[in-house]
Amino acid sequence: MGFQSSRFVHHLRRFSNGTGSHWYRSPLEVYKPGVRLTLALSAPKESLEIQIVKAFAPFTSSVVLLVKAEPTALQLPSPFILKVADRRLAPIWDFDREKDYQASLQSYVETFGTTVIPETDDELPLWIHMLKHWEFYESSHVKEREAYKWFTEAQKLELIPRFYGTAQLSMDESACHPSLTHIKCLLLEYIYGRTMGSFRPGIDLSAEEAEVMSQRVLQLGRDLRRYGVSHNDIHVDNIIIRSTDNRPVLIDWGNADSSLADLPLQQRWTHYSMWFNYHYRIRYMLRYGNDGDKIVSGGVWHRYRTPVSDIEQFRQVQEMGWKLINYKISQLSSEEKERFYDEDKSVDDKHGLRWKVKKGLRTRMVDDPVPIM
Ligand SMILES: Nc1ncnc2c1ncn2[C@@H]1O[C@H](COP(=O)(O)OP(=O)(O)OP(=O)(O)O)[C@@H](O)[C@H]1O
Ligand SMILES: [Mg+2]
Repeated sequence: MGFQSSRFVHHLRRFSNGTGSHWYRSPLEVYKPGVRLTLALSAPKESLEIQIVKAFAPFTSSVVLLVKAEPTALQLPSPFILKVADRRLAPIWDFDREKDYQASLQSYVETFGTTVIPETDDELPLWIHMLKHWEFYESSHVKEREAYKWFTEAQKLELIPRFYGTAQLSMDESACHPSLTHIKCLLLEYIYGRTMGSFRPGIDLSAEEAEVMSQRVLQLGRDLRRYGVSHNDIHVDNIIIRSTDNRPVLIDWGNADSSLADLPLQQRWTHYSMWFNYHYRIRYMLRYGNDGDKIVSGGVWHRYRTPVSDIEQFRQVQEMGWKLINYKISQLSSEEKERFYDEDKSVDDKHGLRWKVKKGLRTRMVDDPVPIM
């Protein structure tokens, strides 16, 4: 790497004095059941002693812990979830690179300050990539915190966990850069239950039970769509089925985008990303598991879609043309076609509706209408 060796040696000397030494432990070693940590709460500005009850390992995008606190005057329930934005989770992190990172960052900041950080490029030294990883963990933390801000009502309605605030784990207070001084955390309600991904619909859950749950998840999507915050990571491990009432709760807002949240309801509701997250993506997950792989969720949650009414299909024809409308129905499973549709073979599929909904069935519109608040 292209560092001036004298600088590097200088900084290695600093480390031998112990500066930044908190960082030289792997996350798997630090975050273990029984370990006690001290949190610096953001509001009120107080410290809180906690003990890890459970670590939701393997850690992927963040460290998620179930922790308990001594009963305090802070009115925090115990246990609660602590979501820690620890940059040591980065796949490129190790002890030697941490040493290099701290030394290089220090000398960089001394020369250029903390604000000018070069753009990512394959040619750049590894420490810059480590810095980019830190930025990624920080931005996930911020996205999640921002999302919860728009969801005060949704939290009361128990659609998502309650947000209790933010805190920091102090690391190296005297360091020159925020990636060295502390680690940011979110405090969240613990949803006692199982993730959808741990069920195998059709195997350890009957098809009927899976359908009941699917309807609840679809309703959760409709209920969340109105807030204008896109989730961007909807999958079966980010939905917890609460044990107390079997209601689904959507977690993990680390990829969320809140930029539409202050638009008027009509615009929020009809925006493509809201439709994509809470209408399309949820239905896709319920029918095909994650990424089209049924094995991931063990089977199909939601077997049949309520058919679109014929009148709605006639309305859609301007936009889509008959051919596409007929094609979409023809692609459904033969089981589903037989259940819901009559085929009129006399109709040319380019000029009319070849598949008509059987009489007396419940139908739906193409999209859910904007709710009345
Ligand atoms: N509020 C909560 N209540 C109960 N369990 C939770 C909660 N939040 C997270 N978990 C558990 O921790 C796991 C990881 O949490 P989360 O999805 O928020 O973290 P992540 O690191 O961003 O996830 P990913 O694995 O999607 O990258 C969840 O799948 C769930 O099992
Ligand atoms: Mg997740």
